[in-house]
Amino acid sequence: MQPKPFVKWAGGKRQLVHELLKYSPQEFNNYFEPFFGGGALFFELYSKNKINHAFLNDFNKELITAYKVIKEQPKELIKELSSEKYKADEKTFYKIRENQPVNSIEQTARFIYLNRTAFNGLYRVNSKGQFNVPFGKYKNPKILDKENILAVSEALQKDELTSVDFEKAIEKAKKGDFVYFDPPYQRLEKTASFTKYTINDFTEKDQERLRDCFRKLDKKGCYIMLSNSYTKFILDLYKGYKIHTVMATRLINCKAEKRGKIKEVIITNY
Ligand SMILES: C[S@@+](CC[C@H](N)C(=O)[O-])C[C@H]1O[C@@H](n2cnc3c(N)ncnc32)[C@H](O)[C@@H]1O
Repeated sequence: MQPKPFVKWAGGKRQLVHELLKYSPQEFNNYFEPFFGGGALFFELYSKNKINHAFLNDFNKELITAYKVIKEQPKELIKELSSEKYKADEKTFYKIRENQPVNSIEQTARFIYLNRTAFNGLYRVNSKGQFNVPFGKYKNPKILDKENILAVSEALQKDELTSVDFEKAIEKAKKGDFVYFDPPYQRLEKTASFTKYTINDFTEKDQERLRDCFRKLDKKGCYIMLSNSYTKFILDLYKGYKIHTVMATRLINCKAEKRGKIKEVIITNY
Protein backbone atom coordinates (compact mmCIF):
# COMPACT_ATOMS: atom_id res chain seq x y z
CA MET A 1 0.00 0.00 0.00
CA GLN A 2 1.20 3.52 -0.80
CA PRO A 3 1.53 5.78 2.26
CA LYS A 4 -0.47 8.99 2.46
CA PRO A 5 -0.54 11.84 5.03
CA PHE A 6 -1.77 10.50 8.37
CA VAL A 7 -2.98 13.93 9.56
CA LYS A 8 -5.27 16.56 8.09
CA TRP A 9 -3.11 19.67 8.28
CA ALA A 10 -3.88 23.35 7.76
CA GLY A 11 -2.21 24.36 4.50
CA GLY A 12 -1.91 20.70 3.46
CA LYS A 13 -0.75 20.30 -0.13
CA ARG A 14 -2.76 17.28 -1.29
CA GLN A 15 -4.79 19.23 -3.83
CA LEU A 16 -1.66 20.81 -5.35
CA VAL A 17 0.50 17.73 -5.27
CA HIS A 18 0.34 17.11 -9.04
CA GLU A 19 1.46 20.65 -9.76
CA LEU A 20 4.26 20.28 -7.21
CA LEU A 21 5.36 17.00 -8.81
CA LYS A 22 5.40 18.67 -12.20
CA TYR A 23 7.82 21.31 -10.94
CA SER A 24 10.01 18.94 -8.86
CA PRO A 25 13.42 17.94 -10.27
CA GLN A 26 13.48 14.52 -11.97
CA GLU A 27 16.48 13.36 -9.94
CA PHE A 28 18.20 14.55 -6.79
CA ASN A 29 20.30 13.27 -3.90
CA ASN A 30 18.85 13.95 -0.44
CA TYR A 31 15.40 15.41 0.16
CA PHE A 32 14.77 18.21 2.72
CA GLU A 33 11.36 19.37 3.86
CA PRO A 34 11.77 21.91 6.72
CA PHE A 35 8.03 22.73 7.05
CA PHE A 36 6.81 19.15 6.88
CA GLY A 37 3.20 19.31 8.18
CA GLY A 38 1.21 16.44 6.66
CA GLY A 39 3.96 15.77 4.12
CA ALA A 40 1.77 15.42 1.01
CA LEU A 41 4.62 15.89 -1.48
CA PHE A 42 7.05 13.65 0.40
CA PHE A 43 4.65 10.66 0.35
CA GLU A 44 3.98 11.19 -3.36
CA LEU A 45 7.71 11.31 -4.16
CA TYR A 46 8.32 8.26 -1.95
CA SER A 47 5.67 6.28 -3.83
CA LYS A 48 7.42 7.15 -7.08
CA ASN A 49 10.76 5.87 -5.69
CA LYS A 50 12.34 9.31 -5.80
CA ILE A 51 13.47 9.48 -2.15
CA ASN A 52 16.82 8.08 -1.05
CA HIS A 53 17.31 9.81 2.25
CA ALA A 54 15.07 12.54 3.69
CA PHE A 55 15.46 15.19 6.39
CA LEU A 56 11.97 16.02 7.61
CA ASN A 57 11.33 18.83 10.05
CA ASP A 58 8.50 20.83 11.58
CA PHE A 59 8.44 23.31 14.45
CA ASN A 60 5.41 21.53 15.87
CA LYS A 61 6.86 19.15 18.47
CA GLU A 62 3.71 17.06 18.92
CA LEU A 63 3.57 16.40 15.19
CA ILE A 64 7.21 15.28 15.05
CA THR A 65 6.76 13.07 18.13
CA ALA A 66 3.86 11.43 16.28
CA TYR A 67 6.05 10.76 13.22
CA LYS A 68 8.77 9.30 15.45
CA VAL A 69 6.30 6.98 17.19
CA ILE A 70 4.88 5.86 13.82
CA LYS A 71 8.40 5.24 12.57
CA GLU A 72 9.68 3.35 15.61
CA GLN A 73 6.66 1.86 17.41
CA PRO A 74 3.85 1.44 14.85
CA LYS A 75 2.53 -1.80 16.38
CA GLU A 76 2.33 -0.35 19.89
CA LEU A 77 0.50 2.69 18.48
CA ILE A 78 -2.00 0.50 16.59
CA LYS A 79 -2.62 -1.47 19.79
CA GLU A 80 -3.25 1.74 21.74
CA LEU A 81 -5.63 3.14 19.10
CA SER A 82 -7.55 -0.16 18.98
CA SER A 83 -8.49 0.25 22.63
CA GLU A 84 -12.04 1.03 23.77
CA LYS A 85 -10.75 4.36 25.10
CA TYR A 86 -10.90 6.04 21.67
CA LYS A 87 -14.63 6.11 20.87
CA ALA A 88 -15.80 8.93 18.60
CA ASP A 89 -18.64 10.34 20.75
CA GLU A 90 -18.75 13.82 22.22
CA LYS A 91 -18.29 12.76 25.85
CA THR A 92 -15.19 10.70 25.04
CA PHE A 93 -13.85 13.55 22.88
CA TYR A 94 -13.85 16.06 25.74
CA LYS A 95 -12.45 13.48 28.14
CA ILE A 96 -9.53 12.75 25.81
CA ARG A 97 -9.06 16.44 25.03
CA GLU A 98 -8.61 17.23 28.75
CA ASN A 99 -6.39 14.20 29.44
CA GLN A 100 -2.67 14.58 29.84
CA PRO A 101 -1.01 11.67 28.02
CA VAL A 102 1.59 9.79 30.08
CA ASN A 103 3.94 8.67 27.30
CA SER A 104 4.65 9.32 23.63
CA ILE A 105 2.46 6.45 22.40
CA GLU A 106 -0.54 7.80 24.29
CA GLN A 107 0.31 11.31 23.13
CA THR A 108 0.37 10.18 19.49
CA ALA A 109 -2.88 8.22 19.82
CA ARG A 110 -4.52 11.32 21.32
CA PHE A 111 -3.06 13.50 18.57
CA ILE A 112 -4.48 11.23 15.83
CA TYR A 113 -7.81 10.87 17.65
CA LEU A 114 -8.25 14.65 18.01
CA ASN A 115 -7.20 15.23 14.40
CA ARG A 116 -9.99 12.88 13.24
CA THR A 117 -12.74 14.02 15.59
CA ALA A 118 -12.19 17.74 16.21
CA PHE A 119 -13.94 20.45 14.20
CA ASN A 120 -12.39 20.73 10.72
CA GLY A 121 -9.50 18.50 11.80
CA LEU A 122 -7.80 21.65 12.97
CA TYR A 123 -4.80 21.70 15.20
CA ARG A 124 -4.96 24.79 17.36
CA VAL A 125 -3.65 25.46 20.83
CA ASN A 126 -4.24 28.34 23.21
CA SER A 127 -1.52 30.50 24.75
CA LYS A 128 -0.85 27.77 27.32
CA GLY A 129 -0.25 25.27 24.53
CA GLN A 130 -3.50 23.39 25.23
CA PHE A 131 -5.49 21.94 22.33
CA ASN A 132 -8.78 23.87 22.29
CA VAL A 133 -10.73 22.91 19.14
CA PRO A 134 -14.37 21.77 19.77
CA PHE A 135 -15.96 18.44 18.84
CA GLY A 136 -16.46 18.02 15.07
CA LYS A 137 -19.63 15.83 15.06
CA TYR A 138 -18.37 13.54 12.28
CA LYS A 139 -20.55 10.44 11.80
CA ASN A 140 -17.97 7.69 11.39
CA PRO A 141 -14.47 9.09 11.56
CA LYS A 142 -11.75 6.56 10.77
CA ILE A 143 -9.60 6.90 13.86
CA LEU A 144 -7.42 3.86 13.28
CA ASP A 145 -6.04 3.42 9.76
CA LYS A 146 -3.79 0.46 10.43
CA GLU A 147 -2.58 -0.08 6.85
CA ASN A 148 -1.59 3.55 6.46
CA ILE A 149 0.25 3.69 9.82
CA LEU A 150 2.32 0.68 8.71
CA ALA A 151 2.92 2.18 5.25
CA VAL A 152 3.98 5.56 6.71
CA SER A 153 6.26 3.75 9.18
CA GLU A 154 7.93 1.89 6.32
CA ALA A 155 8.35 5.11 4.33
CA LEU A 156 10.13 6.86 7.24
CA GLN A 157 12.68 4.15 8.03
CA LYS A 158 15.69 5.83 6.40
CA ASP A 159 14.74 9.39 7.30
CA GLU A 160 15.71 11.92 9.97
CA LEU A 161 12.97 13.69 11.91
CA THR A 162 13.63 16.93 13.77
CA SER A 163 11.70 19.76 15.34
CA VAL A 164 13.78 22.92 15.00
CA ASP A 165 13.56 26.23 13.16
CA PHE A 166 13.75 25.91 9.34
CA GLU A 167 17.12 27.66 9.15
CA LYS A 168 18.74 24.99 11.28
CA ALA A 169 16.88 22.20 9.47
CA ILE A 170 18.62 22.87 6.14
CA GLU A 171 22.19 23.19 7.44
CA LYS A 172 23.20 19.80 6.03
CA ALA A 173 21.85 20.42 2.52
CA LYS A 174 24.48 20.04 -0.21
CA LYS A 175 24.82 20.44 -3.96
CA GLY A 176 22.36 18.18 -5.80
CA ASP A 177 19.92 17.92 -2.86
CA PHE A 178 16.27 18.95 -3.24
CA VAL A 179 14.72 21.32 -0.67
CA TYR A 180 10.96 21.95 -0.67
CA PHE A 181 9.82 24.89 1.48
CA ASP A 182 6.13 25.10 2.34
CA PRO A 183 6.08 27.81 5.03
CA PRO A 184 3.03 29.34 6.67
CA TYR A 185 1.82 31.65 3.92
CA GLN A 186 2.03 35.39 3.95
CA ARG A 187 -1.40 36.55 5.04
CA LEU A 188 -3.58 38.01 2.33
CA GLU A 189 -4.96 40.80 4.41
CA LYS A 190 -4.01 42.52 7.61
CA THR A 191 -6.76 41.38 9.95
CA ALA A 192 -7.30 42.62 13.48
CA SER A 193 -5.27 39.74 14.84
CA PHE A 194 -2.34 40.63 12.57
CA THR A 195 -0.53 42.63 15.21
CA LYS A 196 -0.96 39.97 17.88
CA TYR A 197 2.29 38.11 17.48
CA THR A 198 2.38 34.77 19.19
CA ILE A 199 5.36 32.46 19.49
CA ASN A 200 4.24 30.58 16.38
CA ASP A 201 3.44 33.54 14.22
CA PHE A 202 5.40 33.55 10.97
CA THR A 203 6.13 37.22 10.34
CA GLU A 204 7.32 39.16 7.29
CA LYS A 205 10.78 39.10 8.91
CA ASP A 206 10.61 35.29 8.85
CA GLN A 207 9.61 35.38 5.16
CA GLU A 208 12.71 37.51 4.51
CA ARG A 209 14.89 35.15 6.54
CA LEU A 210 13.49 32.31 4.44
CA ARG A 211 14.32 34.10 1.20
CA ASP A 212 17.91 34.52 2.47
CA CYS A 213 18.06 30.74 3.09
CA PHE A 214 16.68 30.16 -0.41
CA ARG A 215 19.53 32.30 -1.84
CA LYS A 216 22.19 30.53 0.22
CA LEU A 217 21.00 27.11 -0.93
CA ASP A 218 20.83 28.36 -4.51
CA LYS A 219 24.50 29.34 -4.30
CA LYS A 220 25.34 25.89 -2.91
CA GLY A 221 23.78 24.24 -5.98
CA CYS A 222 20.64 22.75 -4.38
CA TYR A 223 17.33 22.41 -6.21
CA ILE A 224 14.86 24.58 -4.32
CA MET A 225 11.09 24.79 -4.60
CA LEU A 226 8.86 27.01 -2.46
CA SER A 227 5.08 27.54 -2.13
CA ASN A 228 3.46 30.74 -0.95
CA SER A 229 0.57 33.09 -1.56
CA TYR A 230 0.45 35.35 -4.61
CA THR A 231 1.21 38.75 -3.11
CA LYS A 232 3.34 41.68 -4.16
CA PHE A 233 5.55 41.15 -1.11
CA ILE A 234 6.35 37.53 -2.06
CA LEU A 235 6.77 38.31 -5.79
CA ASP A 236 9.25 41.06 -4.88
CA LEU A 237 11.20 38.82 -2.48
CA TYR A 238 11.77 36.18 -5.17
CA LYS A 239 12.33 38.43 -8.15
CA GLY A 240 14.77 36.76 -10.54
CA TYR A 241 13.68 33.18 -9.75
CA LYS A 242 11.09 31.18 -11.72
CA ILE A 243 7.59 31.97 -10.48
CA HIS A 244 4.75 29.63 -11.51
CA THR A 245 1.14 30.53 -10.73
CA VAL A 246 -1.39 27.90 -9.58
CA MET A 247 -4.98 28.02 -8.32
CA ALA A 248 -5.94 26.45 -4.98
CA THR A 249 -9.17 26.09 -3.07
CA ARG A 250 -8.77 27.55 0.39
CA LEU A 251 -10.80 28.61 3.35
CA ILE A 252 -10.90 32.30 2.57
CA ASN A 253 -13.09 33.52 5.35
CA CYS A 254 -12.85 31.64 8.62
CA LYS A 255 -16.04 33.03 10.09
CA ALA A 256 -18.31 32.44 7.14
CA GLU A 257 -16.59 29.12 6.32
CA LYS A 258 -16.34 30.25 2.73
CA ARG A 259 -14.15 28.36 0.32
CA GLY A 260 -12.89 29.91 -2.85
CA LYS A 261 -10.21 29.67 -5.53
CA ILE A 262 -7.15 31.78 -4.89
CA LYS A 263 -3.88 32.30 -6.69
CA GLU A 264 -0.74 30.81 -5.20
CA VAL A 265 2.85 30.59 -6.38
CA ILE A 266 5.37 27.78 -6.77
CA ILE A 267 8.85 29.26 -7.00
CA THR A 268 11.93 27.36 -8.22
CA ASN A 269 15.59 28.18 -8.84
CA TYR A 270 15.85 25.77 -11.80
C1 LIG B 1 1.83 25.25 5.25
S1 LIG B 1 2.26 24.17 6.58
C2 LIG B 1 3.02 22.82 5.73
C3 LIG B 1 2.01 21.92 5.06
C4 LIG B 1 2.57 20.64 4.43
N1 LIG B 1 3.36 20.90 3.24
C5 LIG B 1 1.46 19.65 4.10
O1 LIG B 1 1.32 19.19 2.94
O2 LIG B 1 0.72 19.31 5.03
C6 LIG B 1 3.55 25.00 7.41
C7 LIG B 1 4.23 24.26 8.57
O3 LIG B 1 5.34 25.04 9.05
C8 LIG B 1 5.53 24.81 10.45
N2 LIG B 1 6.35 25.93 10.98
C9 LIG B 1 5.95 27.18 11.35
N3 LIG B 1 7.02 27.95 11.68
C10 LIG B 1 8.13 27.20 11.50
C11 LIG B 1 9.55 27.42 11.63
N4 LIG B 1 10.01 28.60 12.04
N5 LIG B 1 10.41 26.41 11.35
C12 LIG B 1 9.93 25.21 10.94
N6 LIG B 1 8.59 24.92 10.78
C13 LIG B 1 7.71 25.90 11.05
C14 LIG B 1 4.11 24.70 10.98
O4 LIG B 1 4.09 23.92 12.17
C15 LIG B 1 3.37 24.01 9.80
O5 LIG B 1 3.26 22.62 9.99
